[in-house]
Formats: sequence, C-alpha cells, structure tokens
Amino acid sequence: DAVESAPAIVIGSGYGGAVAALRLGQAGIRTLVLEMGRLWNTPGPDGKVFCSTAAPDQRSMWFRTRTEAPLATFLWLDVVNKDISPYPGVLDRVHYDNMSVYVGRGVGGGSLVNGGMAVTPLPSYFAEQFPTVDTAEMYGTYFPRARSMLGVNTVDPSWFESTEWYRFTRISRKHATNTGLKTTFVPSVYDFAHMQREAAGTATKSALAQEVIYGNNHGKRSLDKTYLAAALGTGNVTIHTLERARSISRAPDGTYILTVDRIDNTGSVVETKEYGCTYLFLGGGSVGTTELLVRARETGTLPALDASVGAGWGTNGNVMLGRANHLWDTVGENQSTMPVMGIDDWANAANPVFAEIAPLPTGLEHWVSLYLAITKNPSRASFSYDSGTGAVRLGWSAAQSAVSVSMAKKLFDRINAANATIYRYDLFGSSNKVFADDFTYHPLGGCVLGKATDNYGRVKGYSRLYVTDGSLVPGSIGVNPFVTITALAERTMARVLVEDTAP
Ligand code: FDA
Repeated sequence: DAVESAPAIVIGSGYGGAVAALRLGQAGIRTLVLEMGRLWNTPGPDGKVFCSTAAPDQRSMWFRTRTEAPLATFLWLDVVNKDISPYPGVLDRVHYDNMSVYVGRGVGGGSLVNGGMAVTPLPSYFAEQFPTVDTAEMYGTYFPRARSMLGVNTVDPSWFESTEWYRFTRISRKHATNTGLKTTFVPSVYDFAHMQREAAGTATKSALAQEVIYGNNHGKRSLDKTYLAAALGTGNVTIHTLERARSISRAPDGTYILTVDRIDNTGSVVETKEYGCTYLFLGGGSVGTTELLVRARETGTLPALDASVGAGWGTNGNVMLGRANHLWDTVGENQSTMPVMGIDDWANAANPVFAEIAPLPTGLEHWVSLYLAITKNPSRASFSYDSGTGAVRLGWSAAQSAVSVSMAKKLFDRINAANATIYRYDLFGSSNKVFADDFTYHPLGGCVLGKATDNYGRVKGYSRLYVTDGSLVPGSIGVNPFVTITALAERTMARVLVEDTAP
C-alpha cells in the first residue's frame, strides 16, 4: 500500500483551489491538485468540447440519465430537459431536502459552467459580512489582483446599445427605469472582443450559440485558461482528474492522509488511492469542502475540528423568476448567454435585492424577461452527518427559501405594477410556480472565516490545513460570488506562504 506523497495537495480546481495551486507553484512548492471531474480539452464527435443548452448530451451533466436544467418547462411543456447517458458531465445538481445546489465538475470547477459575471461587492456590505477582514487591504490589493488574473472586462456600451444580442437586457432595463430603479453594468470574464466578432460572423459563436451552463467552447476565460494554466506553467503543479477525495485523516507525524477514489467514465471506482501531504488546501467548494470536513469530524478522523464546521451555510438569497412582457416588448430570438446588467436595489434598506438580467436563449421570441435575484436573506443552515447512511445532510427548510421569495416578490411586484405586466407561470415545472426557490447557483459558507477557521482560512484545531473556497463566505455576499472567493483565496495564500511555509 504505497502512499503517493507531495509537499502540498489541493482538493478541487475551482476558484479557491486554482489560486492555491498557482501561488504554491510559484513559491516552488511541489503541489498535486485532485479534481473529481474531467479535464475539458478533448472535442467530442461533433468537434466541440462542450455541448450547448439547446442540444444537451452526455457531456452536459454529472452522471445523469436526464438533464436537470434550472428551467424545468417552457409553456408548461417538458421541452427543456433531455435523456442523456451517464457520464462525468460538466454540471452537477447536488440534491438536499428543499434545496439543490448547482456546481461545476471538471478542471476549473464552477468557472466552466457559470455566467462569467465578475462582480466586486460593495465595500460596506463586504465589511458587514467580514468584520475581521481589513477592507482597505482587500480593495487595495486582493480584489484588483483577482480581477486582473481572472481577465475581467466590460461590454462596450455603444455595442451593447445597438446589438440585437442584448435587446433582452435593454427591455428589462426599460422596465426597471419605468419603476424608478437603478441598473448597473456587470463586468464579466467572457471576452467581449470575441463576442463582438461572434456577432460580426468572424469568430465561432459560443455565447451567441446558447453555450453557457454546459460549458463554453470559446470566449470564456475559465480558470483552465487563467489561474490553472499559470499554475501548470510554474512546473511545480500536477493535476489528477477523475479523482475524488473521500476522507481525510492525520498521521502521527502530523502529515495528512487522503483516501481518494479514481473513477472511470462510467462512474465506477477503478482504484482507491492513498495520498500523503504536509500542507492540505481544501478547494472543493462550499458543499464539497464542508462535506469532507463534517464527515472527518463526525467519523473521528479529524476529531478536533471546531463545532462550527458545517454551520453558516446560505444560498446568497438566490431566486429565479420570469416576467411576461407585452407583445410590443419583444426580447429577441437572438440572446447572448452572458448577462451584462443588474437591477441594483441593494441600497433599499427595507428590501435589498440585486437582480441579474438573465438571458433565456431559445432561438425563438418568447417575451420572457428572466432574472436571477440575489436577496439579503439572513437564513442560514447547517450540515449534519447521518451515521446510518454515511450521508451528509443539509438542514435547509422551505420556509428559509420563502424569505428570499418574499424579498424578490416585493421588488418584481413593483416592476410589474409600473409596467402593467405579470409573472410567467410556465417555467418552473408546476402550473403556478412563479419563483424558482429550490435551487442555488451560489452556495456559500459551511466553514466560515473566523469561525471554523482563523482569520486567514487556517482550519481551527489543525496546523497546515486550509480552506480557500466559497465555504469561507458566511452565506451571503450580495452579488455573484466568484471574485470575492478568488480575492479571499489570494489573501489566504499571501499570508500562509509568508508565515507557514518558511523553511
Ligand atoms: P467550485 O465549485 O468552483 O470548485 C470546486 C471544485 O472541487 C469542483 O471542480 C469540484 O468538482 C471539485 N471537488 C469537490 N469535491 C471534491 C472532492 N471530494 N474531490 C475532488 N474534487 C472535488 N458566480 C459568479 O460570480 N458569477 C456568475 O456569473 C456565476 N454564475 C453561475 C452559474 C452557474 C450555473 C453556477 C453553477 C454557478 C455560478 N456562479 C457564478 C457561482 C460560482 O461559479 C461559484 O461561486 C464558484 O465556482 C465557487 O468557487 P469555489 O472555489 O468555492 O468552488
């Protein structure tokens, strides 16, 4: 039973994992990244690496026989989801009671499937969520570092005003303006110069070809093209794919021992490996990291973990909804999949909401204005371990989702009243479901900074064990989260490499 060992291991290759890998590699520390998903670099029979939302196949979802898209139906018809064969596809939907969590699977984690919106939170709200973090240092150093590494850019306003691909956004903006609400452009990691070439017909279409939640073949600066490419470029970083960390324990000499299942394309475990390391960085995402640590504490492999591991989890107040437009307010059959604008009512202390104007690209005029609302829902839930089944459960209730819905409803009731419009009833499965409140794109928390860890992501109770991902964020950040997750990971790595790894 040979144990493969590396000075540092990083679990997961999303934002938190990718930042850790790059900074370790640059510091000259040999680092192994374990990622349960695939490396997405090989074209399928159609010549493309990823499939589109219009024609999902096995590449779309993580070991499913049918896709589980966020929009269940359209005009009440079950036309959205398709039968597929089980395969390590790029998007997963992790089911818990009353809440399911969408996550990316593959080298790059959520960056492979997300909408690319690269938003920096308001300093005042960041300070409220992270009272122990130096806000000036975050906004002076780590947010700019994260944005520059991620390749954040903004849409050219004059192109935005003229292109058919953002008509849907301009219609939603008009309705917000009619209501007296403020809208704001949202930066992105999708290369807008590429998108303009797509529109001009001089580049292969991706955002303009219904590609997003099952991956983008072009244009998107996902982590495999930014942080992870740079990490591999240091020569000190190796990535193992289709390897899922199952458990973590500690040897008497203080090194960490990981039990890891290697799977094949059918999901069968073809090998169970053991790895050893001195430094262990957890970047499995809010759900992946928290599950590993809750299980480690409750099964006694890391018994000294703090009682707050597993607590402080939230959905970032996510609610999706659609409005039905008047016949003259066409949203266009051509829609870019990359959102570029939000309705910013966060300053409304009585009901803070930041609502992304989301596309619904079907190739047909459908008169739907779709939104992903981020609400200031204070509800938090905890994970618990079921010793009977070995499962980790999430204690989220329908009543907690109802809090997000009532906040979104207050805002969109105003927009409907001002524009004499109604909600769409045909999008989320049952005949009168207007608000999709049973899933989140923004799982946050579970190993909250300053509670389960110290002020820099060092896990309490153990030395040389770190959390660098979305589980550090205490349940809400008020905007789309990946820029914050990246900046916090940069802050952790800057501190750890100076203080913890000195020879
Ligand atoms: P992340 O989830 O990115 O990465 C974790 C990685 O670890 C995954 O690759 C996973 O496979 C792997 N892993 C987990 N457990 C493991 C184990 N035990 N062993 C090995 N590997 C393991 N945010 C935003 O800011 N703007 C946006 O536009 C969007 N849009 C959006 C759309 C959709 C469809 C989704 C699903 C999500 C978004 N998000 C978003 C959210 C954003 O993608 C998310 O917040 C980040 O990806 C979270 O980064 P983390 O580093 O926490 O984990």
